[in-house]
Amino acid sequence: MSKARIGFVGAGGIASAHLEALSKNQKVELTSVCDVVAASAHKAADQYGMQAYGDFDTMLDKEKLDVLFVCVPPFAHGDIEEKACAKGIHLFVEKPLGLDMDVIRKKAKIIRDAGIMSASGYVLRYLDTASKAREYLQDKTIGMVRAHYMTGFVTTPWWRDMAKSGGQLVEQTTHTVDMVRFLAGDISKVYSQMALRVMGDIENLNIPDVGTLSVVFESGAIGHVDTCFIQPDHRVAVEVQGRDFRVVLDGSTLTITEKDRTDTYKSETADIMFAQDSAFIDAVLTGDRSLILAPYDDALRTVEVTLAANQSAETGSPVLLGQ
Ligand SMILES: NC(=O)c1ccc[n+]([C@@H]2O[C@H](COP(=O)([O-])OP(=O)(O)OC[C@H]3O[C@@H](n4cnc5c(N)ncnc54)[C@H](O)[C@@H]3O)[C@@H](O)[C@H]2O)c1
Repeated sequence: MSKARIGFVGAGGIASAHLEALSKNQKVELTSVCDVVAASAHKAADQYGMQAYGDFDTMLDKEKLDVLFVCVPPFAHGDIEEKACAKGIHLFVEKPLGLDMDVIRKKAKIIRDAGIMSASGYVLRYLDTASKAREYLQDKTIGMVRAHYMTGFVTTPWWRDMAKSGGQLVEQTTHTVDMVRFLAGDISKVYSQMALRVMGDIENLNIPDVGTLSVVFESGAIGHVDTCFIQPDHRVAVEVQGRDFRVVLDGSTLTITEKDRTDTYKSETADIMFAQDSAFIDAVLTGDRSLILAPYDDALRTVEVTLAANQSAETGSPVLLGQ
């Protein structure tokens, strides 16, 4: 295959960002887009010269796709991945992969068995500063991790509904939980507290507006992640501490502090969406899976932490992962 033929399911906010990035990539052909809201599919199709569909099965039937970008909300994955796998289509699945671990694990097995390439939308892994931080930490013993994702309210209608989004942690702060895993390794235990404290006047809102997670890593390190959408500004950071050092990724800026020195690195990743999507296309075209920094199987472990945190908040008990 010299060019990857790409289809989209879901033509909302994140699909627009991928389409813009992919339209700059000479190695792709944007062929088709499907959305349950026909006008959304047509708008994207008109802009990028694609075929619009209102029905996913019809699109799969009519189009010969190499790659499918799954850009539907968390509650709407249905059997999209299974159907693409049956046709040997490579999958880019937006985070979070879904809201039910049994379903996600089943999809992961089908993806593995189909032998297709998979990627997820944990885009921050493609920051040069994230890779630099990970490399620095490679041979270090980590003591503690502190992280936060604190921001304002997202107005998208499904976002405020727990049954549709899974709440802020699952839908949004998942990026920070994923970065914590990327830098400090897998998490084996989570204990969380969540509450709806100050945003309860927003119509139809039933998700916690504040939350805090206490976590234990497989390495034995400990840490915590704070999440909220009650702030007037946006702050996201991960700090990893060990003996006489700390690594802080604040937004995209990395600072490494040791006893006698502090080094700060500004990210030079100009277009992170382009970097992520191009890496996936290159993987598909060359067969080199190592280019994909967040395959489905790995993303699954991040979703698992966030869903376990929801369960912990609900039951009041810690949850062990991988059980
Ligand atoms: N990686 C990132 O940084 C990032 C950023 C934003 C959103 N996202 C993720 O992308 C996903 C979509 O978010 P969004 O902001 O684009 O939402 P959105 O509401 O703007 O768009 C979703 C689109 O999917 C369509 N849709 C819903 N069910 C469908 C179905 N069964 N078949 C076809 N189309 C369907 C909707 O009509 C809508 O047009 C979410 O999981 C979100 O977490 C990721």
